[in-house]
Amino acid sequence: MSVYNSVRRVTTHVLNEMKLKGEKIAMLTAYDYSMARILDEAEIDVILVGDSASNVMAGYDTTLPITLDNMIYHAASVVRAVKRALVVVDLPFGTYQGNSKEALVSSIRIMKETGAHAVKLEGGRQVAESVERILSAGIPVMGHLGLTPQSIHKFGTYVVRAKEEEEARRLMEDAKILEKAGCFAIVLEKIPARLAEEVTSTIRIPTIGIGAGGKTDGQVLVIHDMLGITQEFSPRFLRRYHNLYAEIKGAVQTYISDVRSQSFPNEKEQY
Ligand code: KIV
Repeated sequence: MSVYNSVRRVTTHVLNEMKLKGEKIAMLTAYDYSMARILDEAEIDVILVGDSASNVMAGYDTTLPITLDNMIYHAASVVRAVKRALVVVDLPFGTYQGNSKEALVSSIRIMKETGAHAVKLEGGRQVAESVERILSAGIPVMGHLGLTPQSIHKFGTYVVRAKEEEEARRLMEDAKILEKAGCFAIVLEKIPARLAEEVTSTIRIPTIGIGAGGKTDGQVLVIHDMLGITQEFSPRFLRRYHNLYAEIKGAVQTYISDVRSQSFPNEKEQY
């Protein structure tokens, strides 16, 4: 058995232990088999099949259009690649806000048809009943507060949330409500670092930040953004670890030129 096969699987309990020990949690998004396999072999802790697939895979302006069927297709592809990471799947817009029964039915479809380990939903007190109901079926739930992209038309802009005292107070209350409802972790998106730190030290479950400073229990980025495949999205919090856009474009241009000049395929590349 390889070392990789013998690695302990990441569970929601492992994430809790990591918080207790002060070990940071690394989470990235993935939407397909090949990418998920690389992330898992690199030993990422959590893979999020995010509804950001709506933007980076399907080319929509927002996360709103992606469907439950689309998310199930992406999640099942990811799960087939993963041996170690915890796989969390976003409940897409319109599949849980109606009522808690709808939230449960959507979550059951995700778990049954993909083999994923948990679901994520956006919102605070307004989704607490749904969190409890989903949990009643034994499905772990991750929360998501701050800039919640499914509410972009309510916010009207992607600017930092909870800078004002009232919104910050509500966010802290929502974090406590989600913890009480049973969430195993909460994503904090684009909020002041000081507030994220306060939430992190107040609640016992792990916080995973994106644009929320360095004091959360973990970090998450969209894989296409951190690899530099997307070019148009450049918020302050985004660290690009590569410029894959340029690398892929360069490779494709070389291929085109090789085909045109007939230097590909050569004699060794044929039968
Ligand atoms: O959909 C997504 O990728 C997300 C992360 C940005 C947290 O929700």
